[in-house]
Amino acid sequence: MTAELDGSTALVTGATAGIGRAVALRLAASGASVVVHGRDEQRGAEIVEEIAAAGGKAARFIAADLSSSEDVLRLAAEAGEVDILINNAGIYRFASTPDTSAEMFDAQMAVNARAPMLLVGALAPGMATRGHGAIVSMSTAAATTPVRESGAYGASKAALELLTRVWADEFGAQGVRVNAVAPGPVYTPGTEEMGGEALQAIGRTTVLGRVADPEEIAEAVAFLASSRASYITGTVLEARGGQLAIG
Ligand SMILES: NC(=O)c1ccc[n+]([C@@H]2O[C@H](COP(=O)([O-])OP(=O)(O)OC[C@H]3O[C@@H](n4cnc5c(N)ncnc54)[C@H](OP(=O)(O)O)[C@@H]3O)[C@@H](O)[C@H]2O)c1
Repeated sequence: MTAELDGSTALVTGATAGIGRAVALRLAASGASVVVHGRDEQRGAEIVEEIAAAGGKAARFIAADLSSSEDVLRLAAEAGEVDILINNAGIYRFASTPDTSAEMFDAQMAVNARAPMLLVGALAPGMATRGHGAIVSMSTAAATTPVRESGAYGASKAALELLTRVWADEFGAQGVRVNAVAPGPVYTPGTEEMGGEALQAIGRTTVLGRVADPEEIAEAVAFLASSRASYITGTVLEARGGQLAIG
């Protein structure tokens, strides 16, 4: 446990699994009171217990479906005043362009771009009034590098990266920093569905030659959320294991 985030409250979306869970545990270990968000009540309760067992401060769980804008706004209202917002929840639906339905496209845009937009719109003005705040959103290497069957997913995250730069400008003068992290392949329940070999194959396309653990991504998020990153805003920090040279 460190005291780096003592006195801060952090809302972490999609904290019931994978990268979000690791971020929630990491911020709690730095002293933040964490609002754990997700849909699964049971896994939400387990993360809250895990934080308490590790000596973390008053964590609580709020369930909300981020594909519903009403639910997103209810989440923001129930979370109340937060100092740190981590827009982590996201969905990926792999398909070629002919196989991408309007429903698949809209679902990814709703959860990956619209929900963060509404959460920032609801929570950043309070941070600005209080004169401080940090927002970190979860992008992906697929937002800037073409990945097969990931057009709609990558586009939704490219929108999130652009919004990150807009929000940094919009709220920066009032002390709110806004950044994103773009991971490469990470072991999570979500990527487990791809099958181990498919994920390992993506890991081999990185300089480091492997898939990341969620804790390695959480470390980058914790840095950007902390005062150690006090002069960093409007950036996307790549945590993708490096890009192999061509030739
Ligand atoms: N894993 C990777 O290789 C990788 C790489 C680059 C970027 N990312 C990004 O990192 C983030 C986390 O990915 P992950 O692999 O850790 O995901 P994951 O294992 O699939 O977990 C997703 C989390 O988001 C929540 N979530 C999903 N849809 C939701 C919805 N409609 N409403 C509310 N919550 C919802 C889930 O909540 P419930 O389970 O409670 O429903 C869960 O907590 C995503 O934004 C993803 O795009 C992941």
